Order: sequence, then structure tokens, then C-alpha cells
Amino acid sequence: MDQQKSPKSFKRYTVTSALPYANGPVHIGHLAGVYVPADIYARYLRARGRDVIFIGGSDEHGVPITIKARKEGVTPQDVVDKYHYMIMESFEKFGISFDVYSRTSADIHHSTASDFFRKLYENGKLAEKESEQFFDEANNQFLADRYITGTCPHCSYEKAYGDQCENCGTSLSPNDLINPKSVLSGNKPIMKKTKHWYLPLQDYEPMLRQWILEGHKHDWKTNVYGQCKSWIDQGLQPRAVTRDLDWGVKVPVEGADGKVLYVWFDAPIGYISATREWSQETGKDWEPYWKSDDSKLVHFIGKDNIVFHCIIFPSMLHAEGSYILPENVPANEFLNLEGDKISTSRNWAVWLHEYLEEFPDMQDVLRYALCAAAPEAKDNDFTWKDFQARNNNELLAIYGNFVNRTLVLTHKYFDGKVPARSELSDYDKKTIDQMEKYPEIIAKSLETYRFREALSELMNLARLGNKYLTDNEPWKLFKTDPERVATILNINLQICGALAVLSEPFLPFTSRKLLEMLSLEMVSWDNGAKPEILKAGHIINQPALLFSKIEDEQIQFQIEKLQQTREVNQNEESIDVNPLKEDISYEDFARMDLRIATITTAEKVAKTKKLLKLTLDSGVDTRTVVSGIAECFTPEEVIGKQVVLLANLRPKVIKGIESYGMILMAEGQDKKLTFLHPGAVIKNGSIIS
Ligand code: 2FM
Ligand code: ZN
Repeated sequence: MDQQKSPKSFKRYTVTSALPYANGPVHIGHLAGVYVPADIYARYLRARGRDVIFIGGSDEHGVPITIKARKEGVTPQDVVDKYHYMIMESFEKFGISFDVYSRTSADIHHSTASDFFRKLYENGKLAEKESEQFFDEANNQFLADRYITGTCPHCSYEKAYGDQCENCGTSLSPNDLINPKSVLSGNKPIMKKTKHWYLPLQDYEPMLRQWILEGHKHDWKTNVYGQCKSWIDQGLQPRAVTRDLDWGVKVPVEGADGKVLYVWFDAPIGYISATREWSQETGKDWEPYWKSDDSKLVHFIGKDNIVFHCIIFPSMLHAEGSYILPENVPANEFLNLEGDKISTSRNWAVWLHEYLEEFPDMQDVLRYALCAAAPEAKDNDFTWKDFQARNNNELLAIYGNFVNRTLVLTHKYFDGKVPARSELSDYDKKTIDQMEKYPEIIAKSLETYRFREALSELMNLARLGNKYLTDNEPWKLFKTDPERVATILNINLQICGALAVLSEPFLPFTSRKLLEMLSLEMVSWDNGAKPEILKAGHIINQPALLFSKIEDEQIQFQIEKLQQTREVNQNEESIDVNPLKEDISYEDFARMDLRIATITTAEKVAKTKKLLKLTLDSGVDTRTVVSGIAECFTPEEVIGKQVVLLANLRPKVIKGIESYGMILMAEGQDKKLTFLHPGAVIKNGSIIS
């Protein structure tokens, strides 16, 4: 493949964005890291008239989805159906302009991934190997990836997963974990033999070295290049591409019952399946987008996906033999929220569907704030205060204000008709000159994936207009020199036109509104800042506000909402959740005689701190129970309480007192005990079953 191509020599562009897991809604981190930059890039390419397919879809396999389904008592398909549509709707509402948004549970994906695997298998590109893997006897299941947790060998985090430690970010394999435990039962797993297929990554090391380390040293981002170099230099190992699970793409070879493709094997093939789906819908050929040397493949991802998109997927594509490799993988770092890591499980996020409800019609404001603070070179923090400032001090005060003043003055002095320019001053000429440079200036940043820089150049165009208008003060000149005012407003209107066109990739909703206000049809990027974009005599529409002020109360509301989440998390973190015990049969449970009883007397047991001697009316008898609750309750407090009694617990002598049964308590925060009461007063002796 030719690494030296100039941007113009590519005939078509295949732009992919990481497929989000369909096990939860999408949040601002997704948008900032992947979908906003990818969308800006795809829209920009289209604006330049390039042939581009922009691909998205849901990643619907993998262990987090089956774990969620199990927790919620539904099927994995139920889980992915719910979130696939929800995610798709959020993207649509934010104007993420996919040409196709597919999903990996689709038939076309199963057949594409299956065929891909089969081709590698038949061409001897996969190694078959038996090994011992963790197995949960209680659940009769191998423990792949996130089905196993334990202590991270690198940072000692106790809740690391079998595939990754979320604390230090290291990729792990289950065998790396210290004190491994099954997520299903909480038990220590045993080792059991199983067969899997491996991609021999070590065979592709020379290709990867040449392609990335030599070929892309200068055009890939340093964070991406650095991670690749470190993986390659550490020495690549064979990578298992199958798993013992029942949710995923079935392994299409004999002797593979109960095995599916590893989610990270099938998910990137999802980009290809989605392109094939698009091809079926549009009647266009999909293959050139993936197999032709004059196509430019670009993957937009977050930094945790780098190894999969730069090392593993390219090795798969290379092994298959007929595919091109990505020209670039502009991975972003992570976006934090108010100083903390965004986390789905801790609900520490700004969810897109909630944002849309709370800030209706303000999609562009979030797109803007996220692009302006995109974590391009390092992790970055989203704060609500910054969001407010971006809107009030930049979009509203510069862009919106400039457009509004220009349009209002055009209506006031020229009845909404674009006035003609007459003689130009040096300042006018310089302003027009500068304006004309913006398509190229912004393009240069976009072609090199510097989206923040591109956006700040777009705002410089608005600043140029704002300053020109303020410096020339046409409102002071109209009475004495209407011709001069005509020239000034004409130039300002051209800048408004340029803003409408050049904003489109970044602020598609604003661009559409502004075009409408200017009564202008969209033009190509290259013609976007021509000084004749609005001809003299052209009638514009009435101005409407492009942006509105975000009040302190709205921001305070969001900050308090997060504060509540923080408090809930702190409470939850203080409760140690014990793993589930082994399954029991109903018969095991039914052997317990649980019934409602009332405490009739209570006294402290002498010379002990913990014990109370209780008398209980069990409905069938009056009995003594010695209970270890004295540190939490005084005798007076418990008299008269209805409780749950385990009535057939073998009698036991405790501190010389014969105890007949046990009362059930729950242990809450700070080891505090609470009684379990029936919901209403009921007859003593009532059976609990
Ligand atoms: O990290 C993730 O959210 C993955 N679901 C991304 C998959 S990208 C591609 F390979 F599909
Ligand atoms: Zn760790």
C-alpha cells in the first residue's frame, strides 16, 4: 500500500466509529472521544465532495451483556434490543450522520464474521490449542473475560477483570489475576481443559513494524503510535479468538460446540458487515471501500481500543489477504466529568438522552463544548461551568451576536436586501482576504485530525466578523454615508454565509438555521467563503436567535444532580457486597421452619456485651432465644417487636442458657443490624415460605 498518498489521491473514504456496547445508554464521553470528531470528519469530507461512507453500529456481544441480562433476569437479546434503539436515537438526535448504523446481532454480521473466521481457518491462519482455563463448577461454565475477577498484579486493585484492570488500564488475561473468583458464584474456580483457536500475532510482527513503526511514525498521533510501539516491542503473543460462551457468533467449524468468536474478533468485522448492509440498501458496491488501494480507511476510537484497531484487527485483515489497512487511527484519550472518571456503573456521566430532555434543541452547544475540550492529546475534564461559559461567552457572545447584529441591521437599513459593495478600504480588502482563507485553514486542521484547532479557527472567523462590525460601527454612519454602510454590511453578510457553510461539520443544526435565515442553499466547502456567496439584491429572511443564554440555575441543577450521585455512590461503596453463595435446591430451603414471632421479654445476658436473652411468642409455643444484638438494641427497644424466627435451628446452650432458634437480622451500613419485620402485623406462627 502506498503510504505517501496526498489527501486528494484517495478516491473514497471509509470512516468507522467504534461500535458502542449495547449494554447501556451513551454519554458525553462517547460523544467527545469518538462520535463528534468522526462526524465532523465525515461531514467535512462530504462538504468537499468526497465519496465517503461513515459507519456505526452497536457491539452486541461480549460478557458484559450476558452478565447484565443475568442480573436483570432477561435474555441478552432483550438487553441489546433495548439499548441498540436507545443509542441509535441519541446519535440521530445529535446529528451523527452515519450512512449506516448496524448491529452485531444482525444476520448479515453473523454470516460476515463467520465467513471471515472460516477463511482464516481454512487457509491455516489460526492455531488450534488445548489449554487449562478457569471453570466455575457450581455454574458449569468456563469463566472468560469479565466472568472472572481478582486482584490486579500491577496495581493491586481488587476488582480487576479477567481481560482488563479498570483501575490502571492494563490488559490482563484471567491467569494474571491474584485470588481469582467467579463473578457467577463468587467461588474460587477450578482449572479445566478446553480447546480454542488463536491468531498468531507474532507472525505479523514484521508487517506491523514496517507498516506502523516505519510507515506511520509521523502521521499517527503520538499516543497511538506510542501504544503500538510498546505492544510490538514487548513481543506479540498468539491471541485466542474464540470463547466458551453461548452468546455471540458461533464458531463455524467442527468440534466447536458451545464456542463463539471472541467479541473483539467479531466486533471490528462489524464495520465490514455494516458496509455490506449499506450496500444491500443502496445497491452500491461495498468492496472498493474495503479492498481498494485508493480508499482511505480511518478508525475513530477511544484510547482503550488502540491495540484492537492497530494490532489485532489489521493482523486479521492482513491474514485474510484481500483488505486494506487503516491509513490512520486518530484515537482520543478519555473525557472525565467534574474531576472524576466517567463510569456507567457508578452513574457518573451525562447521559445523552437526559441532556436532550434538559437542554432541548441545544445539541450543537454540547457538540461545541465537547469538541472545544476534546481529549485529543491528554485526558480532559468536562465541567458544567465550562459548558455554560462556552455557550454564553463564545457561541452566544461572539457567533450569535455577530450574526444577529448583521441580520438586524440589514433589515433595518436595507429591508432585508443584501446591499451592494462599493469602493473597498484596505480594512475591507484585508477582511475579505482573511475570510477567503478559512476553508483552507480549517481543512488543514481537519485533515490532520486536530478538531479542537479546527473549531477554534471557525470561531476566529466569527471573531473576524464581530471585530470588523464593531470597528466600523455602521449604525453611526447610516445618516451621513449609507453607501459605506452598504459595503460594511455586504462584507458582514458574506462572513455570515461563510460561517453557515463552514460550521456545518461542527454545528449542523446551527448551520441549517443560519442558511435558512440567509435564504441560502448549501454550497461546497471550497466555495464556502467566496465574497459573492450572497449576491447583492438577494433577500434574506428574518433573523431568529441561534443561541440562547444558559442561566446559572440550569447549571446549578446539573451540579446538584451529580452531587446526589456522588452521595449515593459513597453510601454504596461503604457496603461490602459479598459474593453470592452456591445455588441450593428448593428442598434445601424448605427444610427451614421460618415463622413470625413476637418478642415478649428481653434482658441482657450477664457478663456479655453482645447478648440479649429474649422470650418469643412463636404462635405454637413460648421459647427462649439468645441473640447477639445487644450492641445495637437495648432490651426495652425490642420488646413487642415482630420478627422472623428460624424455629427449627437445633437448640444450643449459650452462656449457660438454652436457646431455641434464631431471629433473622440484616446487616446494613457500618455493621448496624436491623430487624426484618412483616409488612403488617400478622398472627404469630405465620409461616414464611
Ligand atoms: O470499547 C467498546 O465500547 C467496544 N464496544 C468498541 C468496539 S469497536 C469495534 F471493534 F467494533
Ligand atoms: Zn491494575
